[in-house]
Amino acid sequence: MKVLVIGGGGREHALVWKLRQSPRVSKVYCAPGNGGIAAQAECVAADLKSVASLLALAAQIKPDLTVVGPELPLTLGVVDEFTRQGWKTFGPTMAAAQLESSKSFAKEFMQRHHIPTAHYAICDSLEQVRAALPHFHMPIVVKADGLAAGKGVVICKTKDEACEVAAEMLCGKMLGTAGARVVLEECLKGEELSFLVLSDGERVAPLVAAQDHKRVGDGDTGPNTGGMGAYSTPAILDEQMQNWLIQHVAQPVVNGMKAEGAEYKGVLYCGLMMTARGPMVLEFNCRFGDPETQPILMRLESDLVEALEASIEGRVSAGDFRWSPNASVCVVMASGGYPGTFEAGRRITGLAEAEKVAGVQVFHAGTTKHDDAYFTSGGRVLGVTARAADLKTAVDRAYQAVAEIGFEGAHYRKDIAARALNSAGKRSL
Ligand code: AMP
Ligand code: GLY
Repeated sequence: MKVLVIGGGGREHALVWKLRQSPRVSKVYCAPGNGGIAAQAECVAADLKSVASLLALAAQIKPDLTVVGPELPLTLGVVDEFTRQGWKTFGPTMAAAQLESSKSFAKEFMQRHHIPTAHYAICDSLEQVRAALPHFHMPIVVKADGLAAGKGVVICKTKDEACEVAAEMLCGKMLGTAGARVVLEECLKGEELSFLVLSDGERVAPLVAAQDHKRVGDGDTGPNTGGMGAYSTPAILDEQMQNWLIQHVAQPVVNGMKAEGAEYKGVLYCGLMMTARGPMVLEFNCRFGDPETQPILMRLESDLVEALEASIEGRVSAGDFRWSPNASVCVVMASGGYPGTFEAGRRITGLAEAEKVAGVQVFHAGTTKHDDAYFTSGGRVLGVTARAADLKTAVDRAYQAVAEIGFEGAHYRKDIAARALNSAGKRSL
């Protein structure tokens, strides 16, 4: 079968890498792909903001299966249109993707369906922000309602700061129309967990959980990013807690969306804070996480195509995935300046040496290839991912590979999975 993957980041590289392992897949296309993906798929130019241009691409390629990676085309309705034209497509519809595209929709939905989440207020003006602030303790979280690539969340220490940030969002200065409405939220404490499930609109099957590292700096310092690294181990989530999360979060979401007429098919990403009061939902994403997908798919032993088809065809079951008991870790190497403005076009060295390290896959996120050389082209450049029997070996392998790679301005976190390692495996979230 021919598979079309839409997107061009590290997540899509991991998807392409895994899909190619299916005996049923004869060819993979990736739109637009990137320098690294080009070694494993035919990359085709694409405008992810235009569903019409993606449809034209499908008419040309005639894929047997289309997998949509990023949120933007999902929230623009690419699955609705592709399905209408008869293309078998994995992912939620535009209506279902509102769980990610509007934080106010997600918060009100959670309230309607009794899904645990932080206290909040939805504000369309600075007056509403000022009126709501006295009801919150500091620090407080200010969030843009719309899509902001992981950069629409600011934790504010004081009410003045919260007002300032909300004002910048509301006037469009900070994030354009994504900030025209803001959500104020109680600041939760705890460890974060990315819990992903596959849904066919009725049933859910859990993927192995992962932990992302959102802040740019070691020790969770500095601004939020799209994600600077992630790891996954069997110990990260025990069976009892997994069952709790299915029963109290994932299944109620799928049931609630169905009851509201927006059946949720695809991967539902539940971003959780494991607090002293129990797990609370920070956000939903309507897709595979990036970089979580890189370590998650490194642990997947069964055929991804079969699982994605089960979602589309309404026959998801807990047995859709078979997982390796190994640990995996992904270290993101980013361009100088990221998550702020960064420069592209830096030559990347050492990729071949890095890939020689046992158990390592280097997934490309923001790269291009000219002649035989790779150059940086995005904020997040590479996801250096390693698998091993235990977390410590996986971390050592990933950083050994990172040490082989160089490009001007490169930076990465040195403490991916460090908390789990320091707790010597005794930690349970
Ligand atoms: P979101 O896009 O809503 O997941 O927010 C991005 C990141 O901001 C999360 O992964 C957390 O690190 C942080 N965050 C979001 N909401 C909260 C909250 N209520 N309390 C503490 N941290 C939060
Ligand atoms: N890693 C967080 C996300 O995919 O949004």
